[in-house]
Amino acid sequence: MPSSRNQMSLISITIFLLLLSSTLSAEKCHPDDKKTLFKIKKAFNNAYIFASWTNDTDCCQWYMVKCDRVTHRIYSLTVDKDDKVSGPIPDAVGDLPYLEILRFIRLPKVIGPIPHAISKLKNLTNLWLSHNNLTGPIPDFFSQLPKLTWIDLSVNKLTGPIPPSLSSLHKLNLLILERNQLQGPIPESFGEFKNIPNFYLRLAKNQLSGPIPRSLGAISFMGIDFSRNMFTGDASVIFGKNKEGLLWIDISRNKFSFDFTKVRFPKSLSNLLMSHNQIYGSLPPALGKLPMLQFFNVSYNRLCGNIPTGGQLQQFDQYSYAHNKCLCGSPLPPC
Ligand SMILES: *[C@@H]1O[C@H](CO)[C@@H](O)[C@H](O)[C@H]1NC(C)=O
Ligand SMILES: *[C@@H]1O[C@H](CO)[C@@H](O)[C@H](O)[C@H]1NC(C)=O
Ligand SMILES: *[C@@H]1O[C@H](CO)[C@@H](O)[C@H](O)[C@H]1NC(C)=O
Ligand SMILES: *[C@@H]1O[C@H](CO)[C@@H](O)[C@H](O)[C@H]1NC(C)=O
Repeated sequence: MPSSRNQMSLISITIFLLLLSSTLSAEKCHPDDKKTLFKIKKAFNNAYIFASWTNDTDCCQWYMVKCDRVTHRIYSLTVDKDDKVSGPIPDAVGDLPYLEILRFIRLPKVIGPIPHAISKLKNLTNLWLSHNNLTGPIPDFFSQLPKLTWIDLSVNKLTGPIPPSLSSLHKLNLLILERNQLQGPIPESFGEFKNIPNFYLRLAKNQLSGPIPRSLGAISFMGIDFSRNMFTGDASVIFGKNKEGLLWIDISRNKFSFDFTKVRFPKSLSNLLMSHNQIYGSLPPALGKLPMLQFFNVSYNRLCGNIPTGGQLQQFDQYSYAHNKCLCGSPLPPC
């Protein structure tokens, strides 16, 4: 009896050690992924940030890389904040077929256009290419990547229009294009984002123009930043009592011109910034009933009449109301 029990435990220890050694020694990383990562490293001149990417190590353990636990294929690649990484984004990034998250961010010497090879990444959900020095257009081929939910291309030198085809991305939830040199209007087709909850759209600091398409009135926005562009006309479609979940609106420094008197607001609104436009009419009394309002600026417009009392409106200083046609009442002088 005792000897057979010893035998059993010996066998299980042996099996355990065998398993342990196989997990320690086996290369988990897929050889195709490893080859591709070496191409990326080389294209970026073997910059020091890639120092851990060596041939004698498992690429699933490399810095900036994440492998799936089951398939051991690379699903995430993040290269962040480095000024030695230089040159265009290499076509090799298109050869990581399981990639879901691609982040090349804060790389001031990464230049050139967004490569077409990215259109091969059919599993991509997050594309972050912000704070680089990218040029050229926002590619049309993003519309062929149906899983995309987040796109951030902010702070680059991208030019040209916003492609209307982006609206075919039925999972897109966050689109940040601010601080580029984009021109033209917001596509009418963006109304197709209407079934997406909490849509977040930031287009600030471009050279965008034209009116806000009426179709945007159907979108459930969480946040909108259209500031510092050249938009014109009526922006009232983005407001409304029924826009529950809308937290902030920034339409400052454009050429919007519409009657503010009839505009209504959701209770959720916490930021309302609209200085430097040509907005006229009066401040609706409903503004004084917004419990969450924290940031507010209507200066440099053509508003007139009494500042409604109650709520938060008297807590903002006079500079939030300055330079209008004839606003009056606290915090401005009495009417
Ligand atoms: C990695 O090792 C393989 C096999 O030893 C070799 O064929 C390949 O050229 C090496 N790659 C690099 C980048 O050193
Ligand atoms: C995407 O992922 C699926 C399953 O995770 C996989 O079968 C497929 O090969 C991947 N790549 C492409 C390009 O579809
Ligand atoms: C971007 O590239 C331009 C030249 O194309 C260069 O002058 C500029 O300094 C670069 N920006 C950064 C942040 O490095
Ligand atoms: C409101 O905007 C004006 C104009 O840009 C600015 O001068 C003022 O400081 C702002 N007020 C607040 C409270 O931020």
